[in-house]
Amino acid sequence: MEYKLRKAEPRDVSDILRLVKELATYERMEDQVMMTEAELLEDGFGDTPFYHCFIAEIQGESSSDDPKVVGFVMYYFTYDPWVGKQLYLEEFYVMREYRGLGIGSELLRNLSDLAMKTRCTGMMFVVAENNEPSVQYYKRRGAEDLSQEEGWRLFRFDKDSLVKMGTPPEE
Ligand code: ACO
Repeated sequence: MEYKLRKAEPRDVSDILRLVKELATYERMEDQVMMTEAELLEDGFGDTPFYHCFIAEIQGESSSDDPKVVGFVMYYFTYDPWVGKQLYLEEFYVMREYRGLGIGSELLRNLSDLAMKTRCTGMMFVVAENNEPSVQYYKRRGAEDLSQEEGWRLFRFDKDSLVKMGTPPEE
């Protein structure tokens, strides 16, 4: 099956949201997806993009069919003061019926090339503990499990905590 990878464009936000929801469903956390297409459009394609995506698409049965978006990676840049620029892999998903064709590996190849081009020293990501197929997929490609090897724990302040810590609103 022929597929093509390309950078996401504003017209892709509905497919991006669809795939974000599919991945959340795969992880049994679909009720936590709050984003709308309008927010994804503003956040990814405004003056300061907060994320970027590579999209995988296949051509439809006939040449007059629109290509179908079947997978994606969402990433952004972060910074580690010990070693410098890092890529952060936020989302990685290929629709079930298109898995095992090398699309995922090709998406990771694009990210690896980008990391080298932009002189990043690594790519960080979080995997759900029960997503064993993905844990193995990443390990086969050389990923280190930092929770296990270095003992880091993942934390978050939610919005309520931030409001409490922030400057109180003026009376
Ligand atoms: N279905 C799934 N996996 C298969 C199949 C199949 N029909 N046939 C073979 N495989 C194996 C292959 O052996 C291969 O592993 P290897 O290259 O290490 O030997 C791997 O699964 C498939 O490799 P690719 O074709 O390169 O990758 P694919 O296009 O299937 O995409 C991905 C990989 C994105 C992990 C996909 O399996 C997927 O969407 N999984 C569900 C969602 C998920 O767990 N995403 C990662 C979450 S973590 C995060 O986002 C940071």
